[in-house]
Amino acid sequence: MHKMIELMYPFNGLEPYYSEETLRIHYEKLYKGYVDNYNRIQTKLENARKNNEYDNIKCLEKDLSFQGSGVILHELFFNNINIPIPSSPSDELMERIIKDFGSFENFKKQFAEAAKVVEASGWCLLVWANNFNKLEVLQCEKHQNLTLWGCIQLLVIDMWEHSYFLQYKSNRQEYINAWWNIVNWNIVNKRYDTLKKCKKIVS
Ligand SMILES: [Fe+2]
Repeated sequence: MHKMIELMYPFNGLEPYYSEETLRIHYEKLYKGYVDNYNRIQTKLENARKNNEYDNIKCLEKDLSFQGSGVILHELFFNNINIPIPSSPSDELMERIIKDFGSFENFKKQFAEAAKVVEASGWCLLVWANNFNKLEVLQCEKHQNLTLWGCIQLLVIDMWEHSYFLQYKSNRQEYINAWWNIVNWNIVNKRYDTLKKCKKIVS
């Protein structure tokens, strides 16, 4: 069961920038709701595996993504803020920000502009795009888009039609059955070994 993180500051510690009432509701009601729902889904998934009952799997996976990503982003958000004492990017991070955005002001402007126009409910994030070896600003609608932020990929199957239709037509099950025979577990193992050696990044 996932446990709620503890706040590193009192509920009134972010005043006047973030009110005690707002923080209390955000942490005690909304964030708690995501953690409770995430744990509830884990129990349902455990039951599904135990009973070999996957009729509801699409709904469960969607809910896992939504609630789990809600947990991850809220924990990042609450740990990202603190009592109003001055702090700034480290020399190393600042250097990277300047390299990738041109200046710290450019980054702040892009971040704020992107945050301002997030459609409906969502987030704005500064991220490290590992594959492109650079910092990026990203918007996020809802919490997820069917992923869990911070996950490291181990194994992937392409479920776009271009990956199977020519051979398997619309028979996805047959494609998946066949695909298991060509999985390279050596690579999966290597990825898993590598990530185990990495220290958990401070969330
Ligand atoms: Fe929130």
